[in-house]
Amino acid sequence: MRGVVERLDFDGMGILRKGRREIRVPFTAPGDVVEVVKWRRKKRKLIALDFRIIEPSPERTEPLCPHFGTCGGCLLQHLPYEKQLEFKAEKLSALLGMDVEVRPSPRVYGHRNRIDVVISTNGIGFRRRGTWWDVVDIEMCPVFGETSARVLRSLREFIEDHKPSLYKIGKNEGFLRYIVMREGKFTGELMINLITSEGDLPESFPEYFDYATSIYWSVNRTKSDVSQGDVERFWKSEFIRERLGDVTYLIHPNSFFQTNSHAAVLLLEEVSKRVEGERVLDLYSGVGTFGVWLARRGFKVEGIELNPFAVEMANKNAEINGVNAKFRVGTDREVENLSGYDTVVLDPPRSGLHPKLIRKILKDRPENIVYVSCNPRTLADNLGHLGEVYSVEDAVGLDMFPHTPHVETVVKLKLRV
Ligand SMILES: C[S@@+](CC[C@H](N)C(=O)[O-])C[C@H]1O[C@@H](n2cnc3c(N)ncnc32)[C@H](O)[C@@H]1O
Repeated sequence: MRGVVERLDFDGMGILRKGRREIRVPFTAPGDVVEVVKWRRKKRKLIALDFRIIEPSPERTEPLCPHFGTCGGCLLQHLPYEKQLEFKAEKLSALLGMDVEVRPSPRVYGHRNRIDVVISTNGIGFRRRGTWWDVVDIEMCPVFGETSARVLRSLREFIEDHKPSLYKIGKNEGFLRYIVMREGKFTGELMINLITSEGDLPESFPEYFDYATSIYWSVNRTKSDVSQGDVERFWKSEFIRERLGDVTYLIHPNSFFQTNSHAAVLLLEEVSKRVEGERVLDLYSGVGTFGVWLARRGFKVEGIELNPFAVEMANKNAEINGVNAKFRVGTDREVENLSGYDTVVLDPPRSGLHPKLIRKILKDRPENIVYVSCNPRTLADNLGHLGEVYSVEDAVGLDMFPHTPHVETVVKLKLRV
């Protein structure tokens, strides 16, 4: 099937239409003339598997990464950055039913502070787009930056010298499984975490990464192919630090941190300028990114979070910054009285707010809500319910994830009188 890509769908795939048939073509731009040779059906959608671009659209730009088009990490590097922002603003506006501007990420390469690199017999790199079993071998990731090239060179040297076995995806065999790199973009601190199966790691391993601030070895004893394990040993610092504005955060291999540090500063500013009053609840508080920042600005903060380790990290973050914020373990289903807070900050996972929490909010009616969302679909649905007693005061999008179709949103809700 041949034709012109009309527009992008919300997942960032080009739409090619012929009669009633619509095929989604990855890595294409509106205006591309494409020929699709083979496609497959996935969840009632047709996705192009084999295609070529016959005439490129004038909208395109040159992707920086040589692996763009095969690597599963990025989908939109071929679109100029202004076009990526336009796409995200249109997507948000359509899903939320209001005009929403998207603020750009201050950096569009070298912005990611974390990458999880697969180590396998198929290659050392990222999953090939559309597969779980194949890997695109890479030398560096421009989205993470130059440091990735250094770490990957050291890893290849280590493998060359010691010949450890590499993971066979799908067979659950082999010793080396992943290397995760994390970098404090404002501190220059680097953490590497090697994830292996059970076995012996040569003693000299850390010598290959002597430039890193923190070196971890974790063991994944399960069959699940994830870039996480139980910490076996670490060398040098236990944590690395990131500094967002005037707040320092600790990063541990097993804790989450916002992945784009430069844009995270904008996110924190957008959240804090919408917070009112004195008492603030940071619900789904993670490692306390919002709570500690807000406490630094004089708010009295309590945080609730499901993951006990994240809570431990959040309390550490409060302590090292010397601020008045207390985080505790709890779930969104069992929060107590919400009416005692002037503002409730919500940053739920992609699935959005639990229906019990929505009912609780509608009953307790805290005056102000700042809803931070990484999934505009569930956000739109939740806003529909909260709209019973709340008005949307304003909303802004933030591009935390350049070259992907994802977008973060901050919405301020005010109780209607
Ligand atoms: C989008 S993250 C928020 C991250 C946090 N704002 C930060 O920057 O560290 C969502 C958080 O919700 C937590 N979570 C998931 N389900 C939850 C639940 N049922 N109750 C409370 N917290 C939950 C996750 O552990 C995760 O830390």
